[in-house]
Amino acid sequence: MGFSKDFFWGGATASNQYEGGVFEGGAGLSTADCMTNGAHKVPRQVTFRMPDGSVDKLPLCFHSPVRDLPEGAQVCLVDDPDIYYPSHIASDFYHHYEEDIRLCAEEGFNCLRFSLKWSRIFPNGDDPEPNQEGIAYYRNVFECCKKYGIEPLVTLDHYENPLSLANRFNGFDSRYLVDQFVKYATTCFEAFDGLVKYYLTFNEINCIEFAPFVTAGLIHGNPQTVANATFHQFLASAKTVIAAHEYWPDLCIGMMLAAGPVYAYTCDPNDQLAALKANDSKYFYSDVQMLGFYPAYKLAEYEREGIKLPILPGDLETLEEGVCDFLSFSLYGSSVITTHDDDLEAGEGNGGGAGMVANPYLKTNAWGWATDPQTQRITLNELYNRYHCDLWCVESGIGWNDEFVDGTVHDDYRIDYMRANIQSMKDAVELDGIPLMGYLYWGCVDMVSNGEGEMAKRYGQIYVDADNYGQGTMKRYLKDSYHWYKKVIESNGEDLD
Ligand code: BG6
Repeated sequence: MGFSKDFFWGGATASNQYEGGVFEGGAGLSTADCMTNGAHKVPRQVTFRMPDGSVDKLPLCFHSPVRDLPEGAQVCLVDDPDIYYPSHIASDFYHHYEEDIRLCAEEGFNCLRFSLKWSRIFPNGDDPEPNQEGIAYYRNVFECCKKYGIEPLVTLDHYENPLSLANRFNGFDSRYLVDQFVKYATTCFEAFDGLVKYYLTFNEINCIEFAPFVTAGLIHGNPQTVANATFHQFLASAKTVIAAHEYWPDLCIGMMLAAGPVYAYTCDPNDQLAALKANDSKYFYSDVQMLGFYPAYKLAEYEREGIKLPILPGDLETLEEGVCDFLSFSLYGSSVITTHDDDLEAGEGNGGGAGMVANPYLKTNAWGWATDPQTQRITLNELYNRYHCDLWCVESGIGWNDEFVDGTVHDDYRIDYMRANIQSMKDAVELDGIPLMGYLYWGCVDMVSNGEGEMAKRYGQIYVDADNYGQGTMKRYLKDSYHWYKKVIESNGEDLD
């Protein structure tokens, strides 16, 4: 008993890191288009203009404690030769989609995950009519997938929102975005009918706590606006699911969680409780989207903090009715939490965070991300035993400063990472009986990293000749991991040598 015969094998991408073509085809700007490049421990910045015309930038993204721009700030592009915006060119998928889809098909993929740029379809987010050029572009992409026998999995909102909605409404803080999102989603369902069957509403919806601007377009992110935006995204997702079930019953709409177990550093009950609470703060999001209600522990937390949810009559019923059809997740590793100050000395954990320490049993990459060989099995067990629903790993991968030599990359470290991940998934399927829909490797074609905004942190099995500033031929080359993954897919996960 191994992976199912119709298991989805493939890779995953996101428009703001991969697509480029930002000024083409009538697209409007998104929030991600105003994020500068960064590097390891150098946060990306958001550029903005003040009412008096002055311009500035602040690190409102991941890896920064800044959550708020000054009152009156409007996020915008700033014309300055020292400022570089990586999403504008990215990996230029906009002009390379045929080649990339073909190379992925030759690798054996039967599935590719893309995200749509909402502002390519509705340039301001709430225009009366969609931009037909944007729709035509994505239709071409999906027609090409069809030609190569690849099932697209489409994320409607992956770390970018129409800039205009962020500036006018503070993003999803406003209830106005709920219906605009549903209009955008249903426009896509109609436009790509027969070409796309699987959609995800919001990428890593739980990451709003770490980066409210990136995930929900919040220019002013505080505990109350974050709670509002979270509620509005839940509502938008639920309404989208309800609309799909009513008018496009063949569609399957999933939620998307940034997963990854949090382990207790010791068996001290205080550490155990801290780990339980840290895991709950992640599962809160899947509890709402898969069970249809706010869990008691979250309501109690909101009450303690004086946070009020912007619930209107009928909303709770909508959340209940609009639970997602499956749970998809990203999974890179695990983290470790301690309540002991002394243990904090042990160092920085995966992704950092309060109380997090390094796991002495695991190796990390240059960005401090730990590779955990049991992470898939533990996560799949936790998720399945909590929700008893279809699960799909739609992101997993390792970033590396690849060395490009003689037209290829010898990326044994990536093969080792993938082998451990796939084996752990296989154990969950074979030893624990967990149904799994598929495995999509993150960043199958090199693209700009989200956290750092640099190209140096590469994930792909296909190398793209571009540097941190979008300079290069954009030619594609196959790495060793491409050939290895092809062999794995051909054997449906049996041959992991
Ligand atoms: C996930 C995101 O959190 O991690 C992706 O959904 C991102 O957008 C991926 O690229 C890897 O993170 P990073 O910062 O290394 O690109």
